[in-house]
Amino acid sequence: MSDDTIEVVILAAGLGTRMKSSKIKILHRAGGRALIDYVLDLAAAVSNRPPIVVIGHQREAVQQHCGARARYAIQDEQLGTGHALLQAAPLIEETARDVPVLVLSGDVPLTRRETLERLFAMHRDGANAATLVSMIPDDPGRYGRVVRDGSGRVVRIVELKDSSEAEKAIREVNGGIYLFQSRDLFRILRSLSTDNAQGEYYLTDVIAALVRDGRRVEALVVIDPAEAFGVNSRAELAAAEKELMRRHVTQLMDDGVTFRDPDSVLVETTVRIGADTIVYPFAVLEGETTIGRDCEIGPAVHLRNVRIADRGTIRTGTVAEETSIGEDASVGPHAHLRPGTILGARVKIGNFVETKKAIFGDDTKASHLSYIGDAEIGARVNIGAGTITCNYDGVRKHKTILEEDVFIGSDSQLIAPVRVGKGAYVGAGSTITKDVPAGALSLSRMPQKTIEGWADRRRNEK
Ligand code: UD1
Ligand code: CA
Repeated sequence: MSDDTIEVVILAAGLGTRMKSSKIKILHRAGGRALIDYVLDLAAAVSNRPPIVVIGHQREAVQQHCGARARYAIQDEQLGTGHALLQAAPLIEETARDVPVLVLSGDVPLTRRETLERLFAMHRDGANAATLVSMIPDDPGRYGRVVRDGSGRVVRIVELKDSSEAEKAIREVNGGIYLFQSRDLFRILRSLSTDNAQGEYYLTDVIAALVRDGRRVEALVVIDPAEAFGVNSRAELAAAEKELMRRHVTQLMDDGVTFRDPDSVLVETTVRIGADTIVYPFAVLEGETTIGRDCEIGPAVHLRNVRIADRGTIRTGTVAEETSIGEDASVGPHAHLRPGTILGARVKIGNFVETKKAIFGDDTKASHLSYIGDAEIGARVNIGAGTITCNYDGVRKHKTILEEDVFIGSDSQLIAPVRVGKGAYVGAGSTITKDVPAGALSLSRMPQKTIEGWADRRRNEK
């Protein structure tokens, strides 16, 4: 369903004081994105018109974050949800038509598109003046209660702070997602009072006003209370994040990814993984990470903004960030790939190797215990155990260049800036301070000295 007459309004002006944060609640992240991003996606799925986001607190930050995905209405003072929604009236009334207005909240990220489609259908079929989403959670908590009459018709919503003991016991609560018709909605919003426990203009009072006018109001009761789960605290942020990532992992499994233990991974909703890849427990996969097909992501691997081509193997305990890994490459266990690392096809990075701003050509290997930073390395280079690029002179960083087919013996230091030419060898234990020409052997270690019988003589001295 995508209907260009539907106007979507997202309420997002409140700070969210229970978050105890200097940052506005809707910009807090869950599953790799800000809470409001999920709501913007939902709006885009049901209407061709960009949603109207009602902004107040930290409006510049919200506007900068949402950019051209939204239009904006400003609520200077947070006088309540009814007042917030009214700020969208000028933008909607421009058309002078009576249009459906879908109201969402920036802090309710788990609603499914199918639920909104059911809401639209119920609204249309009943020719309703208003249709809202309600739910029956185990604990009705602080949600507004949905009051129905003897024949089960919705008559009003009462906020917890304004409710009687009997009303507090009602388990059906207001999910904060509504569909109205613009003409009646804005007329009633303009007549609301603040005569309630919180001294606010309650959007929820529109329901009782419509019913008083003899108009038809219905509630769509959703089975899964997650659908209208509102984030108000850090604990609720964690719960929302868990559900967002659970859904994402389930989708990935549907698409052919194996998780050895889907409950023990952290996979942000922005992460893409190809079919037949296997992910082991305690993997933490974040940001714009893209993993190809037939890869293996080992236990306790932490990836952030990493691209892995097909058939990559990332072994236990590897940490990688802002890195690109070529096909059939193998990394770890316990490797540390820092930003700017680019590995070609079939590269092997072994245990306890750290890289940074380093490009590795195809089939190059650094299998053990090395630091490779600010380096450009050609194809088929072999970097022996314990090789260190000494890229920092205490003031500036310098570059190491290893041309193709170079062999670096174990325990060598490459003092940058330095270049080792094509096919050259560096003997083990060397400290290389000058460029090595192509095809040469260069070594810089002390000649070995051997004193025959020395040990026996020393023992006899006693
Ligand atoms: C609201 C409903 C409650 C419902 C719950 C569902 C009212 C009066 N109550 O309560 O019945 O069960 O949502 O989650 O509507 N906002 C503004 N400007 C304001 C006040 C709020 O933009 O002046 C925004 C907030 O930033 C938030 C949304 O409106 O995104 C909801 O406001 P909030 O204060 O969280 O309402 P609840 O107390 O949760
Ligand atoms: Ca809320």
